[in-house]
Amino acid sequence: MRRPLIAGNWKMNLNRADAVALSSDLVNADKSSEVDVLICPSHIYLDAVSSTLGDSGISLGAQDVYFEAGGAFTGEISTGMLSDVGCQFVILGHSERRHVMGETDSLINKKVKAVLEAGLTPVLCVGETLEDREAGNTEAVVKTQFEGSLADLSPEQVQKTVIAYEPVWAIGTGKTASPEQAQEVHADLRKLLNDRYNSETSEQVRILYGGSVKPDNASNLMSQPDIDGALVGGASLKADGFTAIINAANQNVA
Ligand code: 13P
Repeated sequence: MRRPLIAGNWKMNLNRADAVALSSDLVNADKSSEVDVLICPSHIYLDAVSSTLGDSGISLGAQDVYFEAGGAFTGEISTGMLSDVGCQFVILGHSERRHVMGETDSLINKKVKAVLEAGLTPVLCVGETLEDREAGNTEAVVKTQFEGSLADLSPEQVQKTVIAYEPVWAIGTGKTASPEQAQEVHADLRKLLNDRYNSETSEQVRILYGGSVKPDNASNLMSQPDIDGALVGGASLKADGFTAIINAANQNVA
């Protein structure tokens, strides 16, 4: 049985005071203990949020990292720096990094390897654009991203990753994939994990859904057999809404 994971991606939002207040509200919220909770603030507030989270059990993640351990890479942040401030997870290959910053599968693969080597957990994002979907290319696009981003990894390494399926057309648009549409792609990903690695890997790896997850659609999405949690953008910026999503995941814990 995979333990649900609800992750909040705060993206480039909030200031220091708001980030600390939101994390403090989440620490104090009445929320399920059967669900793993992760929040991913902007790099610059990781340290402050880390202090607020303390030993609350809420995990801390970054929204990106560079693959080199250190040196002349102006503006970048290393895995060592993330560990130093208490991060355990790193979102990689988010669609905004793929499509706005032009990240490729081969760059994302280097980052996945660096994150695993540092003992952190990658949350690898994959997902098709509306154009891909309308052309009937969803399965092929997701497969290419999966294979490229996870190239050269052992089953043991893949078992330590989290995958997030985020259809680009559903991100920040209010258009959620239907539970059936999401389940179809999650099942494809589960099959890829089985075929490329082994059954242990496909049974263990958590696959999150992301794209306009809200308190009112979370439960239906997470009742699907291959949806193990959510990667939440906009609705993670309010403690009440995010807590409702955490508690919706709990309803589906067998
Ligand atoms: P929204 O929940 O705002 O659609 O964002 C989803 C997302 O990109 C999470 O990483």
